[in-house]
Amino acid sequence: TRVAILISGGGSNMLRLVEDMTGDHPARPVLVASNDPQAAGLARAAALGVPVAAVDHHDFSRDRAGFEAALLQPLLDARPDIICLAGFMRILTPDFVQRFAGRMLNIHPSLLPKYAGLDTHARALAAGDAQAGCTVHEVTPELDSGPLLGQARVPVLLGDTPESLAARVLVQEHRLYPAVLRRFAVGDRTPVLL
Ligand code: GRF
Repeated sequence: TRVAILISGGGSNMLRLVEDMTGDHPARPVLVASNDPQAAGLARAAALGVPVAAVDHHDFSRDRAGFEAALLQPLLDARPDIICLAGFMRILTPDFVQRFAGRMLNIHPSLLPKYAGLDTHARALAAGDAQAGCTVHEVTPELDSGPLLGQARVPVLLGDTPESLAARVLVQEHRLYPAVLRRFAVGDRTPVLL
C-alpha cells in the first residue's frame, strides 16, 4: 500500500507515520509533499529516503485550483493508494478531495466534532473543557467533518496555556495517527480510541 503524506511545517506527525511504515506494516511512504518549499519536514523526509515535492501556494495567490493542479502532478506520479494530511494547513477544494474519496485521512487537534477549524486549544481552554485531544478522520468536502477513524483524549490541567495543551495533545497525535493508518491500510475502519 502506497502512502503519500502532505505537510506544511515541521512534519512531526509525518515522521511518526514514516517511521512506523517498516517491517510487517503493509504500507510504505512514496511521497511527502508540502505547500511550503521551506517546510522543515521536507528535509526530514528526504533524510529518511522518502521522495519529496513542494508546490508554493504563494505562486498561486487566490488561484486555489491552480495550486491544486500543480500539487496533483507529483501526487499522481507517486500513485498513492492513501493520502495522509499531517499538519497540512491548506483547505482543499471538493474537486481535489473527491479525487481521493474514501482514501484521504487528516489529523485534527481537537475532539471532533468540537472545534473544527483553527485555534482549537485556545477554544477548548476558553470553554473550560476538562478534556481535549485529537481526531483522525476521513477527509470529505466539508472541513474537518468526515467519518471518525480515531480519537485520543488528554486532560486539561490547571494553568494550561494553548501551548502546553498543544504539546500534550501532540504526543497523542504521534500515537494515534500510526495506529489508525495500520488499520486503514488493511481496510479496517474500526475507530482507534486511545
Ligand atoms: C500540530 O499543531 C498538530 O496538532 C496539527 O498540525 C500541527 C503541526 O503538526 N496536526 P506537524 O508537527 O507538522 O505534524
